Order: sequence, then structure tokens, then C-alpha cells
Amino acid sequence: MLLKILLVVGLFGLARSVEQVRYDNYKVYNVRIDDLEQFKLLHTQERSLKLSSWREARHLGESSDIMLPPEYQKTFESLLTKHNFTYNLKIDNVQTHIDAQRPKQRITSMEWTQFHTLEEIYAWLDVIEDRYPDIVTPFTIGNSYEGRPIRGVKISYKEGNPAVFIESNIHAREWITSATITYFIDELLVPRNPAVRDIAQNVDWYIIPVLNTDGFAYSHEVERLWRKSRLPSDPTGECIGTDLNRNFDYLWMLTGAESDPCSQLYAGPSPESDPEISQLTAYINNSIPEGTIKIYISLHSYGQYVLSPWGHTALEFPEHYPQMMHVAKGFSDALYRRYGTVFTYGSSATTLYEVSGSGKEWAYAVKNIKIHYTIELRDKGELGFVLPPEDIIPVAREVTEGFVGMIAAAREIDIL
Ligand SMILES: *[C@@H]1O[C@H](CO)[C@@H](O)[C@H](O)[C@H]1NC(C)=O
Ligand SMILES: *[C@@H]1O[C@H](CO)[C@@H](O)[C@H](O)[C@H]1NC(C)=O
Ligand SMILES: [Zn+2]
Repeated sequence: MLLKILLVVGLFGLARSVEQVRYDNYKVYNVRIDDLEQFKLLHTQERSLKLSSWREARHLGESSDIMLPPEYQKTFESLLTKHNFTYNLKIDNVQTHIDAQRPKQRITSMEWTQFHTLEEIYAWLDVIEDRYPDIVTPFTIGNSYEGRPIRGVKISYKEGNPAVFIESNIHAREWITSATITYFIDELLVPRNPAVRDIAQNVDWYIIPVLNTDGFAYSHEVERLWRKSRLPSDPTGECIGTDLNRNFDYLWMLTGAESDPCSQLYAGPSPESDPEISQLTAYINNSIPEGTIKIYISLHSYGQYVLSPWGHTALEFPEHYPQMMHVAKGFSDALYRRYGTVFTYGSSATTLYEVSGSGKEWAYAVKNIKIHYTIELRDKGELGFVLPPEDIIPVAREVTEGFVGMIAAAREIDIL
């Protein structure tokens, strides 16, 4: 135990002194994969050309977003041309956009004009907990591997409401998710229109703005594009972290997950190996009355999707698929009305790619929550993880409209 404490202190100390990883002149290409040859070729070149996927095509005819350091770009481009890939350049210099996400002048209060650190988000949670004690009930599911508390809030105006559960920023680099959901919390506390007031007062909202606190801190302090947790399960010590959205205890490691600790999709050494996930599921099991959660949402970016089960198969649809699609349509249509942003909805396996061991599958199959989605926020890959801070408010506003539409659609079919 003492050793672990020393280790944790050591890690925090280290993170402060470590230099930030830079992405000067790194480019992101959108590459369509039309046949198996092309698919294999990209995989064999992954290490030698230092390819890193922002988003991976899982079916032929789809595209991957692939980032490359400057020294391999010429080789990569000639390879693409030689093998008849259809591709285009999405981002010319990743570092420019990372710099644009880090303000010169930090505003520590939340105004949603900047991306905030975990400390800033938590300081704001303290403020709202103090200011609205009758509405906001703070909770902590436990600590992360490195010892950071994982905090959430329950927003409830009255007893007896049905509940929606939202976890956000399970993937560290998806900063737009916690920015969006904190704005939404603010909307629930000070509703700006009657429709939002209705969903604030008549639904209980359990929200964890940053589930992967270690990864999130690491993405601010060291490596902007970090995705996973910080659990060092690789015996060689070379690769760190679990993909927390592959670590849930339902069909763990069946498909769309990896056993290689160096993979971005590493599912962990065992189901619920990571404290972030075991404590989340224990919290849902033990601290929320069974049957009160009607909708479970896992917020991600990017791609503009509302994804339902199943993730593990495209050949079957879950029993409640028609209801899931009705409510997903309610979300997407309402969101669209705000600024015309198109969100596609369907099951993960048929719409995006196969996945197992994810939160929404667990919520459905283990917890019997009928409606659950992985929602992938903006954009479609133009800037991906490095959206400018000016996008926070528009994204948060359209998502707020989406949630209003989601609740309305759920009521139509008596989910709520
Ligand atoms: C690329 O396309 C050209 C023209 O369609 C064809 O002749 C060539 O064999 C293709 N190359 C590969 C590697 O598929
Ligand atoms: C949570 O509850 C489900 C059944 O509802 C059970 O299968 C699972 O093991 C529980 N997990 C934890 C961490 O308590
Ligand atoms: Zn994600």
C-alpha cells in the first residue's frame, strides 16, 4: 500500500516535469479502404511508417483517419498513389490546432470559451454544489488508478423522477465531451427555455463529466492525443493504459477490442480490471435504485453518430431496437433543427464498427436499461479531436436540443 502511495506521488511529480509531446507538421489523412489488399497493406505499414489511427475503417468502402509524422509522409503518399487508394489530406499540421486549444490566457471560471483542466472542472463543481444545494447532489464513484477522484453530480428538482445516466470523457482526448456536458449541467441549473426547464425538473440526471480522470489529466499535461487509462498492465512496461470502453464485463474481448497492451483498443488484462470501470458499475449497482435509470449515455467524439447495441454483431438486432431507434431519431432530429448538423443513428455494428465490452452494451444486457447510446459528437473528421474552443458552445447548444428531443421521444413510447 505504501509503495502504491509513493508510486502515485511519484507519478504526479513526473507528469509535471515531463515535456509535452508535440505534433509539429504531423498530418492527418482520410484514406478509403476499398479492398482487402489495401486493408492488409495499411496494417503491415502501421509500425514502420508510424501510422496512428484517429478513427479506423472497419468495413471495406469506409475511410480511416490516419496521422503521420513529417518524415514518413512522402513515402506514405507514394504508397497510397501506387496502390490506388482514394485519400485526402484532412489536417495539415496537428500542432497548430493543439496550440489553438490551449489558451495563452487561462480563464479559470467556466464560460465554455476554453477547454478546461480537471482542476478547473472540479472547482466549478464545487461552486454549483454550493450554489444549488437543493438541486445538485455530488457523488464520487471512487478514485482513479493514480488516485484522482472521479466525481459526478445528480441533478434532481424533485423526488420520483425517472433518471438518465451520462458518462463522458471515458476516452481522454475527447475533450469536447466534458466541455459539452458541463454546459448542459449549467443549462439544467439555469434553464434558458421552457423545454429545457421541463427536462430539468421532470428527469433526474446523473452525470460524470470526466470518467477517465487520469487519462484526461495526462492529455492536458503531456500527450494531447492520449485515449486510454493510465493503468500499466503491460509486463514490459512499454505500453500503458486500457481502453476503458472495452473494459466492461459483457462479452469482454469478443470483437472490436485488442489483447495487445500497446493497442489503442486494448481491453485490459481482465473485465473491469480498471478501477474506473469496476467502480462505475458498482456505483450504478449499489447507489442508484434498480430500475430508475431509463436511458444510459456514453459521450464520445468524433463522427456525429448515435449508436445503439448491438456492437458485437451486425447480423442481429436487440429486442428493443425499434424503441432505441425511435429515441435516437428524436435526438438527431432535434439536434439538426438547431444548426443543421447531421447525426446518423443505428446500431454500432451496422453503422460504425464492431465493439464489445463497452458501456452501453453492459447497460443493456446486464442492467436491462432499454435505451442506451454511444453518442459521437462533432465533427466528421475535419479536425477530429482538435476542435477549436469556439466550437464548444455551438456543440453544447445542439446537444442540449438533442437531449430535449430524446426525452420527448422517450415519453412518446413510455420509456419515461
Ligand atoms: C491501379 O489502377 C490502375 C488503373 O485502373 C491499374 O492498372 C493498376 O493495376 C492498379 N494498381 C493496383 C496496385 O491495384
Ligand atoms: C452489477 O450488477 C450486475 C447484475 O445487475 C452483476 O452482474 C454485476 O456483477 C454487478 N457488478 C458489480 C461491480 O457489482
Ligand atoms: Zn471515444
